[in-house]
Amino acid sequence: MNITTNQDLIAQLEWRYAVKKFDSQKKISEQDWKAIEKSLLLTPSSYGLQPWKFILVQNPNLRAELTPISWNQSQVAECSHFLVFASKNQIDEAYISKFIALNASTRGMPPEKLAGYKKMMVADLVTGGRSKTISDWATRQCYIALGNLMTTVAVMGIDACPMEGIEPAKYDEVLNLLGSGYQTCVACAVGYRSAEDVSAKLVKVRFQSEEVFIRK
Ligand SMILES: Cc1cc2nc3c(=O)[nH]c(=O)nc-3n(C[C@H](O)[C@H](O)[C@H](O)COP(=O)(O)O)c2cc1C
Repeated sequence: MNITTNQDLIAQLEWRYAVKKFDSQKKISEQDWKAIEKSLLLTPSSYGLQPWKFILVQNPNLRAELTPISWNQSQVAECSHFLVFASKNQIDEAYISKFIALNASTRGMPPEKLAGYKKMMVADLVTGGRSKTISDWATRQCYIALGNLMTTVAVMGIDACPMEGIEPAKYDEVLNLLGSGYQTCVACAVGYRSAEDVSAKLVKVRFQSEEVFIRK
């Protein structure tokens, strides 16, 4: 099913930009936010392991606390919905077993049928070479969710600002993540642009297709 024309898709991706100033009076409807959350849950990840938490920060006091540790960017306080992506900092056999159990129950099959799949994941992520850089692996998965979020909201005509201009270690303290097994990776402010945001008028700066695509 094609829900949009190629032209409309590109128009929305041209329309989106990293918002610098949100209209703090304009809130995302509950219905739209539900669809955005569902889209985030549907994000694909390596092996399907979903090594993330999506922390929705709506408490204005917490937002005020996060602002100075976000390079004082006003988007944190002014956006409709503020999301922090936290990545899992360790993958152990118990986590993989939990995922296998979910897989088996969801698809109505005995978990033993997934023994090979489990063994492969453990050998790769728990005891294998990638276990040494597992936090980087989980961080990459979080960025897939971030990309998915940005495209989803753009198609819905909702604005966003992805934010790496934050202090992750300090976020971990404010959001009580220390010892949770998850750590702050990146954030995204979501809402509606202010009419005063001059950045909306800026022309996109992108390398030419010929420079970026290598065709063989
Ligand atoms: C991972 C990531 C982190 C970013 N961090 C910030 C940020 O902290 N503050 C900000 O204003 N823009 C941030 N940006 C926005 C980029 O500067 C912006 O996407 C880029 O310049 C391209 O412009 P456009 O998104 O408006 O097309 C970030 C973008 C990405 C993808």
